[in-house]
Amino acid sequence: MTQNETERKRMAAEAVLESAWSLFDEVGSYLSPSGTVKGDRPDFAARAVELIPEPREQSDRALQRASLAQVESMVAECTLCQLASGRTKSVCGEGAMNARLMVIGEGPGAEEDRTGRPFVGKAGQYLDSWLSAIGLDRTLNTYIANIVKCRPPENRDPYPEEAQACIPYLKRQIALVKPDAILCVGKVAAHFLLGRDDTLHAMRSTVHRFEGIPTIITYHPAAVLRNLELRAPVWEDLKRVASLLSLPVAKGRG
Ligand code: URA
Repeated sequence: MTQNETERKRMAAEAVLESAWSLFDEVGSYLSPSGTVKGDRPDFAARAVELIPEPREQSDRALQRASLAQVESMVAECTLCQLASGRTKSVCGEGAMNARLMVIGEGPGAEEDRTGRPFVGKAGQYLDSWLSAIGLDRTLNTYIANIVKCRPPENRDPYPEEAQACIPYLKRQIALVKPDAILCVGKVAAHFLLGRDDTLHAMRSTVHRFEGIPTIITYHPAAVLRNLELRAPVWEDLKRVASLLSLPVAKGRG
């Protein structure tokens, strides 16, 4: 529901409450001609606000009970931030339940916006090779999602208000998927998921925790494609993931 719809529904609720109150008044004076049976006039506007909560509140309540399929439908209909108006398709995420690893990127690019699937462009194909190097696969044992579910224009970084509007969906996905570990790719993902604002270099050598889940931060695959010198640190980070999850590591990488 948009803000305007919420306002309209609140005004309608207020009018219904007012009418019910007047009716109650008339019936009361008929039944008790000696005096009114009512107390003070309630604050109908305040009651209407309680009855019809803000869109964010409504969606948060529904999210707390949502299955993964329902999260996907909610994301597809979401209009909580301005990115909704520019999307071709929302990109909720995909992969395995009880994933060994959940990869979190920043937001869909052009190819993802067109297909509705995360990390399917060049950076995504490169990410697949990272997963395969530590014995993982995006359909079998990994779940891939993003901080924001709609493409930011010109692939700019998501604004804080966009990330804040969208992150409850990601949190619900994490709670449902229950990954053994999380890999944040890129500073933006780490920043919004963990609330950290350090450089990626400073954040990458520690195992962080998101709601108790071990979380590793590495460079974004698109950044590594632009600067091949980042391959060595990424390989170190992937080995850290492999060791956390007791996974076999391909020889001769780095
Ligand atoms: N970059 C991201 O951060 N996410 C995607 O889904 C694709 C590219």
